[in-house]
Amino acid sequence: MLYKLYQKHIFPHVLNQVMQTPSLMDLRRELLLDVSGEVLEIGFGSGLNLAFYQRVDCVFALEPNMEIFQLAEERIKLAPFQVEHIQSGAEAIALADNSIVHVVSTWTLCSIQQLEQSLQEIYRVLQPGGMFHVVEHVLNREHLNIQRLQHLLTPIQKRVADGCHLNRDIETAILSTGFEIEKLNYVDAEGIPSIGKRMLLAHFKKPY
Ligand SMILES: C[S@@+](CC[C@H](N)C(=O)[O-])C[C@H]1O[C@@H](n2cnc3c(N)ncnc32)[C@H](O)[C@@H]1O
Repeated sequence: MLYKLYQKHIFPHVLNQVMQTPSLMDLRRELLLDVSGEVLEIGFGSGLNLAFYQRVDCVFALEPNMEIFQLAEERIKLAPFQVEHIQSGAEAIALADNSIVHVVSTWTLCSIQQLEQSLQEIYRVLQPGGMFHVVEHVLNREHLNIQRLQHLLTPIQKRVADGCHLNRDIETAILSTGFEIEKLNYVDAEGIPSIGKRMLLAHFKKPY
């Protein structure tokens, strides 16, 4: 009962604030510079990417959680392009095969329950040559002590942060789906605790 109240009335507001950490906003700007036309955003959240789309005509905003999506209302009103909500998880995306040129995920692949299935769906809806733009906190491959902590704390993190895993190797998962690397970097975000600060900032391509 208390947990449900937390999830419905407190967590969405905490998320909306935390996701506006300046270093994360900088990473959004960097990731989205070359995104144009029609875009599918996975785990749209409270719409914090909208301000960074420069040459976009329409955003398909896939977001299963209505409490979180409602916090995007004002940002959607201000957007100079169409935003179309798809209320579902990425495990089953209601779009045709090979229909989208750009898919965006910012800090969503950590939270998706069925990661492999969702990546296959993203791959399915992208056109050959289409791009998957990703910024995600990931398993720290370099520092074993941080990695141990990430494994240890993930069960708690999943409870307090709506299914978020601290210990996912997102690059490996995406490459296993069949994507190719177009550009890839790891950076540490300022102002984020060590268990969540290692970020994958990357652009993957669906091969022709
Ligand atoms: C950490 S938040 C990030 C929100 C937003 N992408 C951002 O950058 O601020 C993770 C988001 O993933 C969404 N989510 C959770 N499970 C999902 C799923 N199976 N498919 C798509 N989105 C999901 C959550 O509702 C939440 O909005």
